[in-house]
Amino acid sequence: MAIDTAASNTARSAPIGLFDSGVGGLSIYLHLAQQLPNERYIYYADTLNVPYGNRDSEDIEALTLKAIEWLYQQGCKLIVIACNSASAYALDTARKCYPQLPIVGLVPALKPAVLASKSGHVAVLATKATLNGSLLNDVIASFANPNSTVVTKYFDPQLVPWVEAGMPVEDETAQRLRQQLQAFANEGIDQLVLGCTHYPFFKSFLL
Ligand code: DGL
Repeated sequence: MAIDTAASNTARSAPIGLFDSGVGGLSIYLHLAQQLPNERYIYYADTLNVPYGNRDSEDIEALTLKAIEWLYQQGCKLIVIACNSASAYALDTARKCYPQLPIVGLVPALKPAVLASKSGHVAVLATKATLNGSLLNDVIASFANPNSTVVTKYFDPQLVPWVEAGMPVEDETAQRLRQQLQAFANEGIDQLVLGCTHYPFFKSFLL
């Protein structure tokens, strides 16, 4: 790592780097740009390897570290892993590899869902990788269970490719999603966590 890169990474004017497997992290970027409009941003979308959610943990970690190194080389002062799947398998290692660089990761917003639930039954819609990862399972064990909340996990491997394709309404993924929401309601689930950064793009479609 070059000395001048390290110096530029700490400059106030240095950009904030965001990373996702595809367009999903743009949902995080939109919030950040609203809160911090004077910052500069660099967005890395690994569209060559999307989706990450069905990959194994080693694969996700290697792809994420590659993205972080690239953003670091661009002089980013802070990196947001704007992907729940990548955070689940690479956040700890990334922080160890770049101890001087603030790296922010994501975990599905289960805590607010648990607090808001009246039925004590919530669902997390996320990728297989996120649902199996310890970041989410730690929150279930330390927060949902002590609050007597049942957490139903659900994934559909076609959701991320569907969002990447621009969410065509005629697609059977859309029909399946509608049916699944009805099934959640029938089971008494009253809070749904969109645990993947691609999913906020179809939020209006769910209402
Ligand atoms: N946006 C990523 C996430 O939050 C999705 C992943 C994928 O590529 O499957 O998990």
